[in-house]
Amino acid sequence: MKQIVLFRLSLLLLSLFFSSLQAKDKYLDNHSCNECHEKIYEEYQSSMHSKSYFDDELHRKIANAADKDKYACATCHMPMANNLKALISGESRPDKSNKTHTDAVSCYFCHTIAYVKTAHKFNINTKARQAKGFKPTLYGRLDKPDDSDKHSSVSNPVYAKKVCMGCHSHKLNDNNTTIFRAMGEDQDSISCINCHMPELAGGAEKMDKRARGRHASHKFLGIHDKEFRKTGMDINVTTAELKLTITLKNKMTHPLIVQPARAKFLKIEINRAEKIIWKNYKKDPSEDKKGYFAYSFKQDGKDVIIPAHSTASSVNNVYANSCKVLSYAVPALQKGDEVHVALYVQLAKSDCAKVISLEESNLTESSLMKEVIFIQN
Ligand code: HEC
Ligand code: HEC
Ligand code: HEC
Ligand code: HEC
Ligand code: HEC
Repeated sequence: MKQIVLFRLSLLLLSLFFSSLQAKDKYLDNHSCNECHEKIYEEYQSSMHSKSYFDDELHRKIANAADKDKYACATCHMPMANNLKALISGESRPDKSNKTHTDAVSCYFCHTIAYVKTAHKFNINTKARQAKGFKPTLYGRLDKPDDSDKHSSVSNPVYAKKVCMGCHSHKLNDNNTTIFRAMGEDQDSISCINCHMPELAGGAEKMDKRARGRHASHKFLGIHDKEFRKTGMDINVTTAELKLTITLKNKMTHPLIVQPARAKFLKIEINRAEKIIWKNYKKDPSEDKKGYFAYSFKQDGKDVIIPAHSTASSVNNVYANSCKVLSYAVPALQKGDEVHVALYVQLAKSDCAKVISLEESNLTESSLMKEVIFIQN
């Protein structure tokens, strides 16, 4: 009897031992990084990468409108899902109690990308194989990184070269229609990192034993940040008789429009003695075709808003590192006339609001990106 109990006990211990070994192969969730990478964790929490299907209203509603059963968007929006295939095929649905779902573009996912393969519909992030029974190896760009008791660290050139391109470069739907094309296939990610992950004070890790003193910001500021979004474009205004010329210069290494739900547009007003004497549109900014930047989609010849099944697409854009010159016929300008040129963004363009109901008003309201005022002399 005693022997049986002992045998049972040793079996239990043995299985505990093995399951603890297996536990090390398990996914390390975002929150587990907080123990040592406090600052980075906090920054990341405020970034769009931490927003999942559950807390990004715009993404969720478009995803559900595109396909109420299959969540094919998971490849880029929920890439760490432990049942990715089932989500894509529609056998399973996003689950709020599953950390690999709520973690969205997770720390562990980004830091285990071994390389990025170029492909036709969208690129493929290839993950590093983790050795069973050992702590995971996380890749980054630190010079001679220390190991920790939770993970090994290895420098990998991918973290300057292709790391952003796995998700941000292009996407085609099943009809081979371009949903977005934001970057060239041979473009390195170092420019993205320089603008979107600037160095901030404080070591990469809490103890900062190596006295690095700085770390790459994980806020990934973008179009949602008021100050940051001023910096992407230059707006230049010149006038001649009966003509207003606006030059838009895109300083970013991606187009102005990289997201099919967005609209960015110009609002131009000429003021004389505090009265508006001219505007580039009456009611809706899309009346001014050249000053309205957005994607548009067609399905079998008809306009559609949700691009999932569209058969053709077009876009009015200002491409990476390039200029666009727009001219407008205006009334003769007098000394002291003020020309107000403002660039606005609508996170979800008006058309979107017609097919999905959005509760967060900041999604459909227009927000200012940048404004310049020119005074005629
Ligand atoms: C190839 C990767 C990829 C796939 C697949 C993908 N997306 Fe995205 N999506 C992105 C990237 C990258 C961004 C960030 C770009 C941006 O915000 O401008 C994004 C952003 C978005 C946004 C804007 C979110 C916001 O709140 O600002 C929406 C909406 C969206 N995606 C919808 C979808 C839907 C719906 C699907 C599935 C039908 C999908 N995406 C599939 C890569 C992808
Ligand atoms: C027990 C503490 C600890 C935990 C928990 C931890 N790390 Fe680290 N991590 C470190 C230390 C220490 C370094 C080395 C820092 C240095 O060399 O300055 C490091 C370095 C890194 C690097 C840089 C690797 C390189 O080669 O450049 C990355 C990336 C990283 N950690 C990601 C993560 C992620 C993601 C998590 C959560 C899944 C995590 N860490 C959890 C302690 C930890
Ligand atoms: C010169 C600085 C700069 C560089 C380089 C740069 N960006 Fe941006 N990016 C910005 C600014 C500023 C914004 C916000 C203004 C805007 O969207 O027009 C932005 C916006 C974005 C957005 C959101 C756009 C939207 O409309 O939703 C994404 C996604 C993005 N960048 C990703 C990238 C990636 C990936 C790279 C590398 C190919 C990159 N950025 C390179 C400055 C930069
Ligand atoms: C979208 C991909 C992405 C996500 C998500 C991400 N990182 Fe990073 N991380 C990077 C890149 C790229 C670098 C290299 C930046 C550099 O060195 O300029 C980096 C650098 C680091 C470093 C080294 C510090 C440094 O200054 O280079 C640590 C530590 C780290 N990340 C931890 C984390 C943790 C913890 C999380 C989640 C809370 C996280 N990362 C989420 C892409 C990501
Ligand atoms: C695994 C896929 C993936 C990778 C890799 C990735 N991103 Fe993203 N990124 C996304 C998705 C998806 C979103 C949009 C999330 C949402 O809005 O719901 C996003 C959003 C962003 C935004 C916010 C745009 C905004 O709306 O303002 C920026 C900036 C950004 N990414 C930059 C980067 C940079 C820089 C890299 C490389 C270091 C990178 N991303 C790598 C998937 C990815």
